[in-house]
Amino acid sequence: MEPAGTEGAVRRVPRVRAPEFDFRSVPRHWLAGSALTTQMANSVNLLFPTGERFFVRSVRHYLEALEDPALREQVKGFFGQEGRHARAHELFFDALRAQGYQIDGFLRVYDRVAWKELEPRMTPALRLAITAALEHYTAILAEGALRERVFDRVADKTMQDLLKWHAAEEIEHRAVAFDVLQRVAPGYGTRAAGMVVATVGLAAFWLAAMVMLLRQDRARGWRLDAHELKVWRLRPRSIVGGVFLRGMLQYFRPGFHPSDNPMDVLAEGYLSEAGL
Ligand SMILES: [Fe+2]
Ligand SMILES: [Fe+2]
Repeated sequence: MEPAGTEGAVRRVPRVRAPEFDFRSVPRHWLAGSALTTQMANSVNLLFPTGERFFVRSVRHYLEALEDPALREQVKGFFGQEGRHARAHELFFDALRAQGYQIDGFLRVYDRVAWKELEPRMTPALRLAITAALEHYTAILAEGALRERVFDRVADKTMQDLLKWHAAEEIEHRAVAFDVLQRVAPGYGTRAAGMVVATVGLAAFWLAAMVMLLRQDRARGWRLDAHELKVWRLRPRSIVGGVFLRGMLQYFRPGFHPSDNPMDVLAEGYLSEAGL
């Protein structure tokens, strides 16, 4: 039997694009002038580069076992896109350092716990299942960024360019890791276990990074004021309900496939608008 969701589907190979960014003029609170929303975005940014390299390692483990040439091509496009994302986000880290944020201690702990301690204890199938689950979360975040245009008007232009390009490519390759998982380890238990570990890990590191950045803002005099509360109330969707709960509800449905979420038109619209 064909794995769910791949029946006759014709998917395009994710195209590698390499836009250039100069983050030197990005202000400290680049999202709506608010520390809370900016650090919510910055904190997940801190998780991307080494997370994306983990995704590539997890899928690469199975590359030779993939017989379908179309899926192999998609996997290679996925590697190229994730590699570019990781480098672009690391360039943004330099801007955070230049703004005075001490991020390297957090990055060292994240690196040690996630990739040096936990990753080697997992089976290759679980690593791939975690990757597929995290790709589902990134696709949901990407959809929010492009559909609800959360960055329009309120975000620094360079950050908009970074996050929308990344969002569009996450949508483009959102099914690749899942399709590889369906070929090499199609059991529901593995998929569900991947989602559980991915959810706990993402929530824990995201929250830890956000607290770390906000504590530094607080040390520099930032306080929760009326502006912060107003921006917070206006946030278009909650991370807990709109990302985590929605993500899990969809993903735990046995017949789920990432292409069930119709979001390609958003990615295509942005990429053509941006000339990418
Ligand atoms: Fe990415
Ligand atoms: Fe991705």
